[in-house]
Amino acid sequence: MSKKVFIETLGCAMNERDTEHMLAELNEKENFSQTGDFKEADLILINTCSVREKPVSKLFSELGIFNKKKKENAKIGVCGCTASHLGKDIIKRAPYVDFVLGARNVSKITEVLHKPKAVEVDINYDESEFAFKDFRTSLYKAYINISIGCDKQCTYCIVPKTRGEEISIPLNLIVDEANRAVNSGAKEIFLLGQNVNNYGRRFSGKHDKVNFTNLLQELSKIEGLKRIRFTSPHPFHMDDEFIEEFAKNPKICKSMHMPLQSGSTKVLKDMKRGYSKEWFLNRVEKLRSMVPDVSISTDIIVAFPGESDEDFNDTIDVMDKVKFDQIFSFKYSARPETEAEHFTNVVNPEIASQRLTFLQDLYTKHLDEKMASKLGNIYEVYFEDLNADGYVSGRSDNNLVIKAKGSEELLGKFRKVKVTSIGRSILSGEIVN
Ligand code: SAH
Ligand code: SF4
Ligand code: F3S
Repeated sequence: MSKKVFIETLGCAMNERDTEHMLAELNEKENFSQTGDFKEADLILINTCSVREKPVSKLFSELGIFNKKKKENAKIGVCGCTASHLGKDIIKRAPYVDFVLGARNVSKITEVLHKPKAVEVDINYDESEFAFKDFRTSLYKAYINISIGCDKQCTYCIVPKTRGEEISIPLNLIVDEANRAVNSGAKEIFLLGQNVNNYGRRFSGKHDKVNFTNLLQELSKIEGLKRIRFTSPHPFHMDDEFIEEFAKNPKICKSMHMPLQSGSTKVLKDMKRGYSKEWFLNRVEKLRSMVPDVSISTDIIVAFPGESDEDFNDTIDVMDKVKFDQIFSFKYSARPETEAEHFTNVVNPEIASQRLTFLQDLYTKHLDEKMASKLGNIYEVYFEDLNADGYVSGRSDNNLVIKAKGSEELLGKFRKVKVTSIGRSILSGEIVN
């Protein structure tokens, strides 16, 4: 009988893909199958995120619950970014934890399983060419890593300390993986990296010079592949060549993530983001002039140390000018081992909360205006999910989530859908052909 693994995944899409890689290794080498109920699991894993403080403090209370209610002899492993950054301290604080496996050591999952109290958290470990078995949670869409680590030094960010230096995965390995995914039925691939448009800057071995635009061009030659998405591109690397390829390549979905972080050039400088307010707005303008219906999403941090009312107003100004289709907004959270941890001009927490609320309310206003304008539009939807209520849902090319009446046979298919009613996060429509 196969053993069972329960895994909880926090954080970003890179963690989602790491989870898939660990499940593939566990299945292949140790005959584990996945369960959604931790009480019946022989192995409980938490794939953690350190990017802000809150999820880190939640980790230990959650571990306590797992330990109390788990099956007898079940093992508990802590993986991911918090594993990288806290290392053996996790076992000190929670001695019942059986192993700690860092975000850059995913391929060692079946090794640590047999090494009591193993702590494998080396952020210089190079997994850029490790041959993970193919495993995907979705049949219709394949996540593919194109790089590991991050070479930027944004002053607020812990990621370079948890995932190490940036190494690109060789082009031929990415193309092979995409081909295998498409041959097994996926029509969409989702390329992942902390700085995807910096692709090709450094490889582990010797490889021909290649950049992100070249990679996109190679991948779009794959027959049967209909859609390419990626995250996260960095505004600093959005040169004309990249935007032009994005605009003219029909397989690239017209939805761009442009993490602004702040609209103030002064704050951007303190964050070491490498671009100004004007550059960001210029890139949006170029993008919109070439792809008028492009959807643009962003990440914003409010109340970075030293952010004045005027700085915050610059962020609001960018929001008013761009009217983002989606935002992920956060209050600044000081992280260990980052440069900004030592910045002293901290923003009063009450002001920070007010700014976040103001920004989120403004976004909701923009969103309501945008969504109202979608009524009656027709979008090509790639159906991926079966909903419980006799509906299927999927995404339009420009990343709108749309549902329509239907059943399983629509999954993995493209259909034109006319929007008949709108909501903030999902639209409903009727299939027109
Ligand atoms: N590589 C991606 C970001 C990954 S982290 C990029 O550069 O876009 C995801 C988001 O978390 C960041 O874009 C940022 O908005 C937020 N974030 C990172 N560190 C943070 C911190 N210390 N406090 C609050 N938000 C943070
Ligand atoms: Fe963090 Fe900056 Fe790297 Fe993104 S680009 S992961 S925000 S250091
Ligand atoms: Fe991702 Fe969180 Fe690590 S956002 S890179 S899992 S710190």
